[in-house]
Amino acid sequence: MTKITPEELFERNKKWASKKLSLDPDFFNRLRDIQEPKYLWIGCADSRVPANEIVDMDPGELFVHRNVANVVPHSDANCLAVIQYAVEVLKVEHIIVTGHYNCGGVRAALGDQDHGQIDNWLANIKDVLRNNFDEINAIDNVDDQVDRLVELNVAQQVKNVAKTSIVQNAWRKGQELTIHGWVYSLQDGLIRDMNVDMNSIDQIHPAYQIHT
Ligand code: CO
Repeated sequence: MTKITPEELFERNKKWASKKLSLDPDFFNRLRDIQEPKYLWIGCADSRVPANEIVDMDPGELFVHRNVANVVPHSDANCLAVIQYAVEVLKVEHIIVTGHYNCGGVRAALGDQDHGQIDNWLANIKDVLRNNFDEINAIDNVDDQVDRLVELNVAQQVKNVAKTSIVQNAWRKGQELTIHGWVYSLQDGLIRDMNVDMNSIDQIHPAYQIHT
């Protein structure tokens, strides 16, 4: 891979901005004061999974939160702040949790190696592993185990988004909001729908439901 200096990034930025203007002279004026994205994307921090780019969305169209292995812990102030702003202020209509096959974070969570502090973060995925221990262990090679755990992790994080007081409040008020679980493949650049959509309180386990 060619080495790009920070100075070159400024040059690239200038070229990008002028290209945008040549295609649409009003582009930056329109986005200066308001953002009205209909989507919140929760994805992995992996550099090979750039949210806007893989769904061909322009600036202003996607509100984005990314962390290692796209997890939504119940009390992560950072992730919850993003969800609250997206749901209550931007009023996004879709929240998409997007994992990706061959995820390094998921691979690390699957093993028993010491990775330092990040093991505490990866414990969120180890929870998913524990809950699906027999299924994962029945798979005979590590690569396929990683990919299945990626899928199961996405499904779990969709549930975690739904469980938040923020999303439950929105649904109670009748706000239209669907949470989706997708997995991106680094191999072919395509996204697969895990078909784990959630759009009502009834789909949440009763233990987590908040009704009044
Ligand atoms: Co990843």
